[in-house]
Amino acid sequence: MNPLNHVAIIMDGNGRWGLKYKNSRNAGHKEGLKTVEKIINETIKNRIKFLTLYAFSTENWKRPKKEINYLFNLLENFLNNRLEDINKQNIRIKILGYKKFSSKLNKLLNLAEKKTSKNSKLQINLALNYGSKTELINAFKKIYKKKGKINEKNLEKNLQTYNIPDPDLLIRTGNTKRLSNFLLWQLAYAEIFFEKKLWPAFTEKEYKKIIKEFRSIKRNFGKI
Ligand code: IPE
Ligand code: IPE
Ligand code: MG
Repeated sequence: MNPLNHVAIIMDGNGRWGLKYKNSRNAGHKEGLKTVEKIINETIKNRIKFLTLYAFSTENWKRPKKEINYLFNLLENFLNNRLEDINKQNIRIKILGYKKFSSKLNKLLNLAEKKTSKNSKLQINLALNYGSKTELINAFKKIYKKKGKINEKNLEKNLQTYNIPDPDLLIRTGNTKRLSNFLLWQLAYAEIFFEKKLWPAFTEKEYKKIIKEFRSIKRNFGKI
């Protein structure tokens, strides 16, 4: 049975779900938040230590302002309402990506990270304004500036995921088979599951099924 330490998820399909059932993309984002809660709980139940959630990519700025604002309001409300609870549940929050949002949201994200920094049950990495290409370029720039050596260890030290083990399992919901600039380096050996269901329709049942299947895969890492 494979150990499962880190699950990464591309939570895709909110907009389509919202349009189909509520005639509004934003309603899909709101519903998607309920899935986030369910999946966090199931992750804890499975004693998984790291959960990385792709919530907003560097490319998502190309969306209409109205949708972007809605998304960040949703996040702000979520943190305002749930941070205490998250902290009590011994969950650590870490943001991947650059905090270039409203000063209110930046402060709230910093607070969430600081307040939960000693927690140890589960670490949730929230990828927000995250793009893997930017992350890699910045890592190389940092090494270059310090006149450091270009090697795997040094590169990893300069990624935003420093000290976070690579994901063992990547799940993308929403019936699309692509990585969309997510953790390109870190996913080198992840087992990848593309799930047909849209994120708001994704449940613990599908999640558990994927975990079960993951456990039984023969992971080679180049060996035989
Ligand atoms: C993913 O759902 C959530 C974000 C990118 C914020 P989408 O909004 O991409 O949903 P679809 O893919 O358009 O259905
Ligand atoms: C990927 O979904 C980003 C997130 C889930 C946050 P997108 O919906 O933005 O991806 P593309 O544009 O369809 O590849
Ligand atoms: Mg999408």
